[in-house]
Parts: sequence; structure tokens; C-alpha cells
Amino acid sequence: MCGILGYTGNRQAAPILLDGLAKLEYRGYDSAGLAVADGEEVRIEKAKGRLSVLSERIEGGKTLAGTCGIGHTRWATHGEPSDTNAHPLWSDDKAVIAIHNGIIENYRELKEELTGKGYSFYSQTDTEVAVKLIDLYYKEDNGNPLSALTRAMRRIRGSYCFVILFRDHPDEVWGVRKDNPLIAGQGKGESFLTSDVSAILQDTRQVYYLDNMQIARLRGGEIRLFDQDGNPVTKELSEVTWDAQAAEKGGFDHFMMKEIHEQAKAVRDTIHSALREDGTVDLSSMKLTDEALRKVEQIYIIACGSAYHAGVVGQYVIEDLAKVPVRVELASEFRYRTLPLKGEGGLAIVISQSGETADTLAAMRLAREHGLRTLAIVNVVGSSIAREADNVFYTLAGPEIAVATTKAYSAQLAACYLLAIQLAKARGLLLDESGLLAELQALPRKIDDILDEKERIRQVAERFAQANDAFFLGRNIDYAVAMEGSLKMKEISYLHSEACAAGEMKHGPISLVEKGMLVVGILTQEALYKKTASNMLEVKSRGAWLMQVTHRGNDLLKEDADFTFYIPPTDPHFAASLAVIPLQLLGYYLAVARGVDVDKPRNLAKSVTVE
Ligand code: G6P
Repeated sequence: MCGILGYTGNRQAAPILLDGLAKLEYRGYDSAGLAVADGEEVRIEKAKGRLSVLSERIEGGKTLAGTCGIGHTRWATHGEPSDTNAHPLWSDDKAVIAIHNGIIENYRELKEELTGKGYSFYSQTDTEVAVKLIDLYYKEDNGNPLSALTRAMRRIRGSYCFVILFRDHPDEVWGVRKDNPLIAGQGKGESFLTSDVSAILQDTRQVYYLDNMQIARLRGGEIRLFDQDGNPVTKELSEVTWDAQAAEKGGFDHFMMKEIHEQAKAVRDTIHSALREDGTVDLSSMKLTDEALRKVEQIYIIACGSAYHAGVVGQYVIEDLAKVPVRVELASEFRYRTLPLKGEGGLAIVISQSGETADTLAAMRLAREHGLRTLAIVNVVGSSIAREADNVFYTLAGPEIAVATTKAYSAQLAACYLLAIQLAKARGLLLDESGLLAELQALPRKIDDILDEKERIRQVAERFAQANDAFFLGRNIDYAVAMEGSLKMKEISYLHSEACAAGEMKHGPISLVEKGMLVVGILTQEALYKKTASNMLEVKSRGAWLMQVTHRGNDLLKEDADFTFYIPPTDPHFAASLAVIPLQLLGYYLAVARGVDVDKPRNLAKSVTVE
């Protein structure tokens, strides 16, 4: 949440910051701001609304001279979106100017203390409190940024990442992090601080991933790192392998549609990363030996949002293939449960695209505290979850920009399948995995075949552009897909939708069905096909307009379905990977038909680094 960027070097900072912030806007887009130091003077510009509002106001950065600056896109936590609450925030004499991502839990107490010392406050943000605390220590320590920051870090509770300008150090950018991501990028004669590498990929691929409670000082091309006591820290530079082009729209109207089309590649790359040349599964790069897999007696899958939905699919597949009991937990719930956790024999699989979701990270830490081995399925290399987990399975989806995930979800499914297969194999329950692996490797081509038919889905979406409600129904893996299809629809098109286990409809939700309401049934699990088909008929007889996603040959609803989308045949364990594609398209086209900003739906952010 909140996009953060800092630059120091020999080029004009403002256009670089605006360019980079455009790639971070998915992290928050209710206001934006820049501060640029030009000699003794620091100029600050900020505006409520999208980054484009700010950019127009400062003519693409031309009106702000200076080669050292910081920039922010905001997702409001404390204080409504407004020009005043937008970042940067400053101390009264503008000696300290900062941007922030995170939440300061003890801001009331700090504010009271600072008020007692004569500070006043002009915004409703917790950030301003931190800025003034840093300012207090900065002045007490005779203008020493490092000691001011270390003292402030000892006092501030919560999660944060700050990027700071000190007016009297006009060529320096400082950064500190605790539980929120911060990356320092090393360029030639210049350097960057950012919350996400995609903002700086066009300028450098050489980065330092700051650890928790570390401080960075950037001056031109020089990056110095310190620990929380101010001692110098040495670190290896890491090379980012992501393609800079991947963070561009590449001819598509929206990132979401581009990413929908990148799914075949994301799935293919993720599968191949875990296959040996002889075609067998190889999880050794994530240090998961067969011996370790044999010892697993209980799995907890922990995640949020779509990653949770991928976990629900994983649960069905793992239990069926490997016969290990699995509980899928929402991270925000898991972290506050008093579960009798099993340390020995317990495995926590943590799924996260960003690797930074606050609840998921906290839940993973709790699992570790209870002695569970943790395996993270993560997309972003070097992210907090990836660094703290015992083992990491990287999904190879590349940078995902649209707030609504598509390709990362698909890659997460692929990772779950591979794990399930190897768990089953290691436990002697799968003597020959070649059939399953062949099916797995055929998924990318089948995903592309489905995309060839996207126009049919667009027509359905147009028909329901004015609708108010929809239901998604399914059983077993189809229910997990229904959850994801429903989320895609509501989060980007704002059409209210609910997923319901098909058998549960009659226990309440069916009372909401009205004439003409869109009900989407997912019917890919042959063993349960007849059951779900009956549930579809029950809603049809109450006036619903039926759309079904199923395989050819499933004819029970031939006469009754108003629209049928056939997905190619596949092993039932992997059907989610195909069934979800038309549902993603449905959500996308509905959003377009309703004139909504597909890539940046209201109130949402892609990387949720607050509780
Ligand atoms: C946000 C995003 C979702 C994502 C969820 C979990 O809500 O909009 O697309 O599924 O966070 O994020 P993670 O990065 O942990 O997968």
C-alpha cells in the first residue's frame, strides 16, 4: 500500500519520480505528491486524486527543478484523501520532509508528547507525527540524520517504511523500513529507493533489499546501509531478472487484459521451473526433499484474497492426491486464532503474490513461532515473506500491475499442483506421475485456446452491464473457482456478487434469486456434475439467467442454460486453471462495459501492507 520512490543523481528528479510513480500507482491512487530539493530550497507539490492530476499541475515535472527528490502515491489509512493529507509531510520549518507507507500504532501517544514540546499538527495523518518526531531528534542531535532516525525507530511502533529528505542535506535521500518493503537501486552516478522494483527497472537492475530495521542513505551513486543502532552494514547487490517491458501495457487497453494473456506463459514458466529434464518434479531448489515431504502430517495453507482462493483449490488437490489433511486459513483470521498448532509434522504453506501482505506475513511468523515449517509460494523475489520463510517456491508470473490478480493466481495454482504431485509421489501414493504431468504441461495451450473465444464472454458481459447482483455456484474445486470468479467480478466491476457452494443455496441465498439474475455455474468435476446441475435447475426455476462453464458432453443443462462456455478437457484436479479464465474475462468485460477503471478499482490496493 502506498507507492514510495526516492531519487538522487544528476538528472532532473521530478520527471523520473513521476514516471516511477506511474508504475507504483496500483499501490494506492487517492492522492500523490513530490518533494524536490534544489540547493537550499525544497519544493513540495501534492494533489488529491490520480497521479495525472499532480502531473498536469507540475507540467510533467518541468516546473520542479532539482536532482534529488521523493514521491508518493497514497492509499489513505489515517485521514481522508485530500491535498493536506497527501504525502510528503513536513516539519514546521521544512527541515524534515518525508513520505510513508504503513501504520504508526502509537501515533496518539507520540502526538501528545510532541504537542507538549510545542509541535502543532496541520494534517490528520500518523505520518506527520513521525516526521515531527524525527525533526525533534534531528534538532536535538545537531542536524544528524542518522542518529535522528535511529532514535525515532526506537520510539515508533507499527509497520512503516519512510523515505526522507533533510533540507540541510540537499543531495541525500534517506530511507528506513520495518515490515514494509524498501529497496535501494544502484544506478550509474544515481540511486533510487522504492517500494517495488518495477518503478526503477528501466534505470537499474542492481538492488539492495533492505532488511527490517535497516536504514539507507543515498547520495548520488553512493548507497550506504546501517542497522538500527547506526552501525554500517554490508550487503550483496542482487540482480533483478524481471523484464522492464513486462511493466508496460504492451498494446493492451489495460494491464489486467495484458496479464490475462500472459497466463499461459506464467503457468508454463512456473511448471518448468520445477521439472527436471527427464520430466519429473524437482523441488530441490526450494530445499524440499522427499524425506521432508513424507514427514508432513498436517498442512495449513494461509493467504489472503485471490491467493486464498488458490489455496482452496490447493486444499482439494493435495487432500485428494496426497491424502494429507489440509486446512485453508484466511491470514487475517489465522493470525489471531488460538489453534492447537502442530509443530513437528506440520507444514504451513503461505501463498502471496507480493510477499508483503501484512496479515500473511504475521500469520507466517506465528506459524514459525509454533514450530511449523513454512513454505512460501511467492511471486516477488526478495520480498519479506520470501526472505522469512524456511522454503520458497517462486511463481514465475513476472511483475503483475493490475490490482485484480490473474496471472499470479494462475501461477499459484500451478505451484500447488506440483506440490501435491510431489507430496503424493514421496508418500508412495502416486507410482506414475507422467500422466498428470503431461496434463499439467498442456494447460498453457488450453488457456490460450480459451482466450481465443473471449468475444463470446464480452457479449454476455454487455448484456449484464446494468445488473445489480450475481451468484457463482460450484462444488469442490468448482466452488473454489466460483469464489475467485465472484471476487474478480465484484472487485473490478462493482457488481455485487456472491460465491456459494452449490449445495448451500437452498439454505438461504436462494431467497435472493430474482427473475433475470445472472447465476454462473462451474461444472467441471464429473463426479459432482449431476448434483450441481440440479442446483442450477433450482435457481433456473426461480427465474435466474444461467451461464455454465463446463466440458463438452455435459448435456444435462443443454436446454436450460442461457449461455454455455466449454473449456477443453483436462484432469479434474487441474480444471480450476481453465475454468477461471472465462470468469476473469467476464469480470474484466463487465468492468469495461460499466465504465470502471479496470486496473485501479476504487478503495483497493494491490499490495496490502496494513492490517
Ligand atoms: C489484494 C489484491 C489481491 C490479492 C490479495 C493478496 O487484495 O488486490 O489481488 O490476492 O491482496 O495479496 P498477495 O500479494 O498476498 O497475494
